[in-house]
Amino acid sequence: MEGRNEMEFPFEYRVLDSEESEAPCNYFNKFVTKVIRLGSKGYFFFKEFDSTALDIYNMPLRPSDTFVVTFPRSGTTWSQELVWLLQTNLDFEGAKATPLVTRFPFIESTGFWKLNFPSEYYQDDNFEKFMKEVYATSPEMIKSLPSPRFIKTHMPLSLLPPSLLDTAKVVYVARNPRDVAVSNYYNYKSQNIVPVDREFKPFWKLFMENKTLWSPYFEHVKEAWRQRNHPNMAFIFYEELSKDLPGVARRLAKFFGKEYSEEQFEALYNHLKFDNFKNNKSVNMAEWQEIGVMKGPFIRKGKTGGWRDHFDEEMMQQADRWIEENLRDTDLHFPTA
Ligand code: A3P
Repeated sequence: MEGRNEMEFPFEYRVLDSEESEAPCNYFNKFVTKVIRLGSKGYFFFKEFDSTALDIYNMPLRPSDTFVVTFPRSGTTWSQELVWLLQTNLDFEGAKATPLVTRFPFIESTGFWKLNFPSEYYQDDNFEKFMKEVYATSPEMIKSLPSPRFIKTHMPLSLLPPSLLDTAKVVYVARNPRDVAVSNYYNYKSQNIVPVDREFKPFWKLFMENKTLWSPYFEHVKEAWRQRNHPNMAFIFYEELSKDLPGVARRLAKFFGKEYSEEQFEALYNHLKFDNFKNNKSVNMAEWQEIGVMKGPFIRKGKTGGWRDHFDEEMMQQADRWIEENLRDTDLHFPTA
């Protein structure tokens, strides 16, 4: 285990046996050969993420830290930009000057860096540049950042430092799992984590079986939902952002103890509007698509309910059952989309 002893992990650590790992390893690209489950909820990761997960759990925090925590493709980027602007007195110039990936680093991204990408993806220097700029943040590097720090993570609360909520501010964003699954599928294909010829239906099955990165989806969301009334936690839905961006922005401004004029809020909504956001080079990663490292746009459709175009009757019924079963023990409900 690359110099790490399983005993070192302060949470459960299990390498999936060949039977359990066969389906995900066959579906994901060929460099995915060993998969693990971490923590009591058994969060699913590629083996290469293990030491990063340990470093994150042990990372020193500061009271001035702000975390955006999400299951991937739940509106993280959109929320990061909103949070960053609210916290920086709407520094639109600063937001334009420095890419969001630098202003608001993705803390477990070194897990991707450690993947053994085969040479056909390493076509040229662009790939290396991409990995260095987008995926080279480590918990170690974050120690040297000046305060206030802004940190993006897809880690569930139970794999983040136990003192997180009593120390730093956390914004958790949740999204309808059907849209999350579709969006993840396209994003993985775009980034070569999944070969381009793979269908969505088997991905959906893996998603429901908690065999995609950062799954189980429902445990991830429910852990945060249970903390939604903690004074340092703001829990928001992608669907709320879509339907009522002004309402969410005002709620978050209050959460951060900030006040802005009507005109300032208007400028903020305009900045975050889908069409403007999609064309904003500081957040859209278009550069990577232009040079062929990403196969599709990172900011894709931006719709609620787009999943309907990807689910057949059988999948719709599976989804209804799966969601109902998983919401049975909670008062969490997704805003309808
Ligand atoms: P789709 O793939 O459904 O289009 P994340 O940032 O967590 O990776 O989430 C990406 C999802 O958020 C994508 O969903 C993306 O299009 C959507 N998104 C990003 N910015 C948005 C915006 N300003 N308005 C609406 N949706 C946005």
